[in-house]
Amino acid sequence: MQVLGICGSLRKGSTNLLVLEEAARMMPHGSTLTYDAEQVGRLPPFNPDLDQDGRVPPPAVAAWREALRAADAVLVSSPEYAHGVPGALKNALDWIVSSGELIEKPTALVVAGPGGGRFAREGLRRVLEVIGSRVVADATLVLGRSQITPDRRFVDPELAAELRRAVEALAAAARAVPDIERSGVDLRR
Ligand SMILES: Cc1cc2nc3c(=O)[nH]c(=O)nc-3n(C[C@H](O)[C@H](O)[C@H](O)COP(=O)(O)O)c2cc1C
Repeated sequence: MQVLGICGSLRKGSTNLLVLEEAARMMPHGSTLTYDAEQVGRLPPFNPDLDQDGRVPPPAVAAWREALRAADAVLVSSPEYAHGVPGALKNALDWIVSSGELIEKPTALVVAGPGGGRFAREGLRRVLEVIGSRVVADATLVLGRSQITPDRRFVDPELAAELRRAVEALAAAARAVPDIERSGVDLRR
């Protein structure tokens, strides 16, 4: 089972990147979580003119779509900015509105930051659902820099437990997807 981690923060010392690191360590046997911390930041601003039928998408967009297509499930971890979804992450999701890589894909949504992030969580859930993703778990982690150890682990075991619940729910939902669907065979043919 292959899970793709998606980070909504472009910051090098991002706490949301730490969430992905912790989640990768929590994956059940036989499942792995991988992520490219810079993928979302490499995407150009969404422009529908570059995304019309018959046009070749920019290479970073093609790579983003391929990474999503190849994943059995995704885990999005994002901060809240200005009571909303970070622009870079929203931009990345705009690029897949019409290509549909997240349709029916089991998805876990984590919002981590010192103030939690209720607005980002609500906003992200709305966007993920409208693009067809199946949000099977979500969690808000109230996580400030003082709650991270120097070797980048959570100080609070309750935060780790909450993340573990989301990771396990995601892995279980991904495992429940029938193999025929996971193989990408188009059943409508
Ligand atoms: C410009 C800016 C706006 C922010 N707005 C909010 C906000 O509206 N709500 C909130 O809870 N945190 C807000 N934060 C705090 C971030 O969520 C926090 O810094 C978070 O740790 C950033 O995530 P990262 O560590 O993964 O980069 C804001 C931070 C910045 C820099």
